[in-house]
Amino acid sequence: MPQFEVSTPQRTYAAVVERGAVNRLPDFLPAKHGKLFVVTTQDVWELHAERIRKALDGTSFDVLFFTGGEQNKRMAHVEQLAEEMAEKGADRSSVIIAFGGGIVTDLAGFLAAIFMRGIPVIQIATTLLAQVDAAVGGKTGSNLVAGKNLVGVFHQPLAVLIDPAVLTTLPEREYRAGLYEIIKTGIIASEPLFRVLADQRDAVLAQHHHAVDHIIAESVRIKAEVVSSDERESGRRKILNFGHTFGHSLEAETHYKGFLHGEAVSWGMRAATHLAHDLGLLPDSDAESILFVLDRYGPIPSTRNICGNALQSRLVKDKKTIQSKVHFVLPTRIGDVIVKSDVPPEAALKAIRKALADTQEVTQ
Ligand SMILES: NC(=O)c1ccc[n+]([C@@H]2O[C@H](COP(=O)([O-])OP(=O)(O)OC[C@H]3O[C@@H](n4cnc5c(N)ncnc54)[C@H](O)[C@@H]3O)[C@@H](O)[C@H]2O)c1
Ligand SMILES: [Zn+2]
Repeated sequence: MPQFEVSTPQRTYAAVVERGAVNRLPDFLPAKHGKLFVVTTQDVWELHAERIRKALDGTSFDVLFFTGGEQNKRMAHVEQLAEEMAEKGADRSSVIIAFGGGIVTDLAGFLAAIFMRGIPVIQIATTLLAQVDAAVGGKTGSNLVAGKNLVGVFHQPLAVLIDPAVLTTLPEREYRAGLYEIIKTGIIASEPLFRVLADQRDAVLAQHHHAVDHIIAESVRIKAEVVSSDERESGRRKILNFGHTFGHSLEAETHYKGFLHGEAVSWGMRAATHLAHDLGLLPDSDAESILFVLDRYGPIPSTRNICGNALQSRLVKDKKTIQSKVHFVLPTRIGDVIVKSDVPPEAALKAIRKALADTQEVTQ
């Protein structure tokens, strides 16, 4: 099974995609390490603790529990965990093992980045979204009242371990939310990956090993390649934000409650696709294929009662908006995107309205 190299100025490390990947944990620990701290949530620990125990086979470790949920991804909890580590005798030779979804990988990564000015972290991602996105690339952080992920640092891990077998316990809706990020990866960088998603939808949704392992590996390969070319998002890494500019406005407008992140991104990709098509950048057939595949992996919760103007006015408030210029990542064909910042506001509003019209049905 594949192992991909993520090569950044900070560190070069492996992202391993493999059934049983957690067993590789000892291979990536520093030769002389101090205490090990597993940061996780109660639910993940109840379901999958055995994998860590087996991998560490007799090596002692402490488990630090974090209460999951976006509302808990806060500095106060980072501080609490740091205090707990200090109490338990952590020092600069300690290693954090983040074991959970994207909230855990972001928060534990952040903790590792700032504890004693930085200790190593190994990321073991247990949601599909964290496996293909959050755990790879070194972005860590926590939320402020003012917005999501507004504080954080880049802290590259020693390794990322991705075991598709842990996904069998993931709620179906969370699994589909991760699939939207994989669809995103296909649209921005790989027509073949997009085709697999289009052609093997039933196998993907049923988690057939060959299909799931392939799409995860392809997504991780591409994310590793993009991050390696631009760790700090000054250029190419921006393409990963396809669907996110619109998606973030939907998440913010619904107070991070109505939609999972991936679902908001699915809606956002729909809006970006309409926009690219309306601007004459994307051929009809590609736009139709994208919208069709998004439907086939749906539904997302209804966007009925959401106001298009409100979403549009949130675009300029997005974290990625610089000096009031909104940067839209727009597909020019399946497998390729451009970043465009001179989009007329009326065109963006029209695309938002079309995407809202597509997703009115009450489904959940
Ligand atoms: N750093 C990055 O580059 C990056 C990229 C994308 C997203 N993110 C962040 O990721 C977060 C979202 O992550 P997420 O979607 O993984 O959500 P999450 O971490 O909240 O996990 C979703 C739920 O699934 C549970 N869970 C995790 N693994 C499980 C398993 N194997 N079986 C059963 N339940 C399991 C979790 O406890 C949680 O209740 C957001 O905060 C977002 O900002 C970061
Ligand atoms: Zn995302």
